[in-house]
Amino acid sequence: MAFPAEVLLLILRLVIAPRLMASTKTTFFMSHPQRPPLHSPELFPYSVAAVCKTWDFVASMAPEFWSLVVIFLESTPLDYAKDLLLRSKNLPIEVHILENKPLKEMDPPMSFTPERVAWRKLKMQQLVTAITPHLHRCERLKIQVVDCQLLPRLSDIQAPAPQLTRLALEANPHGRSHIAINKPESQPVLFVPSPDLRELTLDGSDWYPWFQSLLDSGAEFRNLISLTLSNLNLSKPGQSSFDTMDELATTLGSVTRLSVLDLRNIRAEECVSQPDQQVMLQNLEVLYMTDCESEFLWSFFSFMDMPSLVGSSVVRCPVDAMLVPQSPDLHVEGIDALNDLGGFLKDWDGVNLVIKDCPAFDNHTLRTLSGNRYRPPGHENFCSLEIWNSFGFTLEVLQDFVQVRSEVDGGHYKFNSLFVYGAPYNLSSDDLAWFKARLSEFSWKMVYGTSNL
Ligand SMILES: *[C@@H]1O[C@H](CO)[C@@H](O)[C@H](O)[C@H]1NC(C)=O
Ligand SMILES: *[C@@H]1O[C@H](CO)[C@@H](O)[C@H](O)[C@H]1NC(C)=O
Ligand SMILES: *[C@@H]1O[C@H](CO)[C@@H](O)[C@H](O)[C@H]1NC(C)=O
Repeated sequence: MAFPAEVLLLILRLVIAPRLMASTKTTFFMSHPQRPPLHSPELFPYSVAAVCKTWDFVASMAPEFWSLVVIFLESTPLDYAKDLLLRSKNLPIEVHILENKPLKEMDPPMSFTPERVAWRKLKMQQLVTAITPHLHRCERLKIQVVDCQLLPRLSDIQAPAPQLTRLALEANPHGRSHIAINKPESQPVLFVPSPDLRELTLDGSDWYPWFQSLLDSGAEFRNLISLTLSNLNLSKPGQSSFDTMDELATTLGSVTRLSVLDLRNIRAEECVSQPDQQVMLQNLEVLYMTDCESEFLWSFFSFMDMPSLVGSSVVRCPVDAMLVPQSPDLHVEGIDALNDLGGFLKDWDGVNLVIKDCPAFDNHTLRTLSGNRYRPPGHENFCSLEIWNSFGFTLEVLQDFVQVRSEVDGGHYKFNSLFVYGAPYNLSSDDLAWFKARLSEFSWKMVYGTSNL
């Protein structure tokens, strides 16, 4: 015997939802420790709806359950997606359109058949059309797919979104080869987010005309604190990279509260000259640079002044072409042996350095970082080094480094913690004791860490 619908609804409302709904409050971009991942079968209310048609129907009668709308591009039927959007009535909503699997488990789009590509395009257009009548109550919108060609252009979104504080239109961040096509902008801008927009993630060169036309119309991004741009080609036909770089710099400079900037796979083909005037990113605290090209990096660091940086991350970039970001925390990953990592780090004046998967981290780099007692001390604040799977140096050189840096007599250096993961051999007990005598924190492991276990 099934429950009467009213009883089941009462149980869902009074018992189940209070336990699970609390955990659906999220920080959107950061995965919330309590909310199951969006792909998880345990995600409320989808877990309840999946029990059977009756439960789905009963749950659909409680609008407050459905403020989190999760639609899978391929597996959620269009009609069901439309129904999901209607269930929350007039309540504020958070909408996600995602691939069936987390991106890193997805096949690359190159392996899709032409039929599937065409079908996915059509489905995405239909979903964007389905969302449009609900945009006015949408607080967060995230579309995340493997192929950037599928993302809607901002001018294709034909309604304002006055409640929207977080927007992410994101394609595979690992898709180095994918550069969005830079189509000319012709439509008037209808898609205007809330002045409280806090986080913006966009893929491809579509963002700039959109952003600029909003600025021109007097919109202010006074609360925008986090901006992610990916797969952007700054060499537009008929314009030099300098112009587009200048535009990018000026636009970033106009976002006064910007504190997190994440740039992935940004290219500029031609050589650009030095700017007349630097653009100040006064409040920028965190900078991520992933898979960016040398021409871009060179001009970015010539254009930008970032006096408040706290942390920066440089991943798979040609570091020979860039200045080192002056931040207390620096994370360097995936730098190949063709690059002079020592030359890059030479002028870094930070505190904590993390090196991950860098064949370029060798004897020379360590010698550059250590300096010696006869040369004026550099890197005075340098205090901790983590080395992950980057073993281009010998133990002897590492010991020289520690010997110089941990010397307290001169009072110059504060270096006191060293972690080595993914070492090619174990330390002898004598060597272990040697390091422990000189450092307050020391760890040496052959295992690479959880990702390799
Ligand atoms: C970037 O744009 C320029 C000019 O349109 C073009 O020649 C170049 O091939 C593009 N680069 C990439 C990687 O798409
Ligand atoms: C690193 O330096 C040590 C000692 O100076 C030397 O024996 C070793 O061959 C060097 N290794 C590399 C890869 O250059
Ligand atoms: C290295 O040390 C670890 C921990 O003491 C030990 O589990 C591992 O078997 C050792 N590996 C080798 C190759 O000696």
